[in-house]
Amino acid sequence: MNRREYLKNTFGGFALLGSYGVGQSLAAAPAGRAEASPASSMDDHGQYVLPHLAYSYDDLEPYIDAQTMELHHSIHHQGYVNGLNNALSKLREAREQDDFAMVKHWSKEVGFHGAGHFLHEIFWSVMSPDGGGEPADVVLGNAIDSSFGSFERFTAHFVAASSAVEASGWGMLAWEPTADQLLVLQAEKHQNLSPMVTVPLLPVDVWEHAYYLRYQNRRGDYVRAFMNVVNWDAVAVRYHTARQILR
Ligand SMILES: [Fe+2]
Repeated sequence: MNRREYLKNTFGGFALLGSYGVGQSLAAAPAGRAEASPASSMDDHGQYVLPHLAYSYDDLEPYIDAQTMELHHSIHHQGYVNGLNNALSKLREAREQDDFAMVKHWSKEVGFHGAGHFLHEIFWSVMSPDGGGEPADVVLGNAIDSSFGSFERFTAHFVAASSAVEASGWGMLAWEPTADQLLVLQAEKHQNLSPMVTVPLLPVDVWEHAYYLRYQNRRGDYVRAFMNVVNWDAVAVRYHTARQILR
């Protein structure tokens, strides 16, 4: 992608995101093909829906195999969408009936399935068959350098942290708005350990369902392969959007 195409995609996507709320716009950041990105993750009935992908299940081969992609998107992610809708429905019933005996349970369900749904939405959007390499965006590239020392040190940190997540979870490049710096984080399951204030820019799913068919127990190999499909243009859109909205 040359600089003209980059600016067109980046700021075309930026405009696309501009009219939405923070959570929605960041979850819907485009995967380098703004026209294929969902405008909303909710349907007309106020139900969360599974987002369409901007690429085919086999487009990320050989790094992420087609069968894993299909199962991951159509089965696992759909499960989080269903769980989130169900939990929110139960909490709506609780308010209507003024009966909050199960509020702790359903709130936990919102946390688990909601974080699962939102992170998967971002995960799909920050991958591309044309991904890999380093950010073309100079501001993001400079931020990575100042936060981690260099892109190589960031990559080593990101791969190590993602590979070392205890049990199931995510590795994550995130933006921390109070000091305007980037952090590499871990999330256990979907919702534990990550500081709430941070904005996920580049999450990598390290639940076994994301890699086991091809990589078995070699999670590090999977994360290193993931770096070949990172859509840095989409990451840059998320970074600039978050900074414009929250700073
Ligand atoms: Fe997943």
